[in-house]
Amino acid sequence: MDSTVVVVGSLNADLVFSAERMPAPGETVAGTGFAVHPGGKSANQAVAAARLGAAVRLVGSVGDDAHGRLLLASATAAGVDVSAVRAAGGVPTGVAGITVDAEGENSIVIVPGANALLGPAEVAEAARPPLAAFEGSAVVCLCLEVPQAAVLAAARAGRAAGALVLLNLSPYASVPAELAACVDVLLVNAQEAGQLLGRDGLGSGALDWDLVRTGLADLGFERAIVTLGPRGGMVLGPDGTAQIETIGVETVDTTGAGDGFAGALAARLAAGDGLEDAARYAAVAAALATTRHGAQPSYPDADEVRAALSREAAGS
Ligand code: RIB
Ligand code: NA
Repeated sequence: MDSTVVVVGSLNADLVFSAERMPAPGETVAGTGFAVHPGGKSANQAVAAARLGAAVRLVGSVGDDAHGRLLLASATAAGVDVSAVRAAGGVPTGVAGITVDAEGENSIVIVPGANALLGPAEVAEAARPPLAAFEGSAVVCLCLEVPQAAVLAAARAGRAAGALVLLNLSPYASVPAELAACVDVLLVNAQEAGQLLGRDGLGSGALDWDLVRTGLADLGFERAIVTLGPRGGMVLGPDGTAQIETIGVETVDTTGAGDGFAGALAARLAAGDGLEDAARYAAVAAALATTRHGAQPSYPDADEVRAALSREAAGS
């Protein structure tokens, strides 16, 4: 059975500034720490899935520089096959300037660098032998930190390979119908779901999830997961809606928690789980990721998730 997860998209070096609180416009605040971590939504998703035991290939683009080498080393150490990540000369690796406050909230500025070089031609090259990156793929995992033409090409390659295509609509952008038509499962947070439906957000009050479900289906997304941070998430599909619980944790840094969710979801779907079971597992993996700093350094392995799930089942 095909069981590989193929992640197509971005790699960034995360330059992380910790401070008691975010600076206001025009203000300077003294920070409490600085670190450079491997990041980028797609690299994060790939590492999160591999750490949980999935066979993972990453397709993307970095610069021929120290940040690029950091990213390749981190993904490789997690067991990700990076042979379809190109190191381009003359352009820097993507970077993310991240400020994290004492509550673990973050704000991020991204400069795409080499990520902008990933286009349909690069995806096509990855799909052809000798790389044949989509061969044997069960799940193709996508986000919007690379040009949409590359995302569309990867979604089509995933479809052609018979894989389930998972789109994490982050950072938010409107989705053309031809891309929506190639997506099997949409993964969004409440903010992104609201934007898709033409509102500011989904709000915090009681929600008619069936309306959200039909609204997303009208846009071409028959199956969707809306993540709700510490409140878990909702699985929306043709059969209705299901609420997903998560575990309570001491959060220190939410950076990359959504990517941890996406990677874990992809790993469990590739292993044969149904959407609800995979989402329940992913919500716990994402919660555990918020208890440690950084994105990639914070992702749990399968033993840690299993232990958290059985503690939860035992009601402790
Ligand atoms: O989702 C978190 C990621 O977003 C960070 O690792 C940063 O690189 C940005 O891409
Ligand atoms: Na984290």
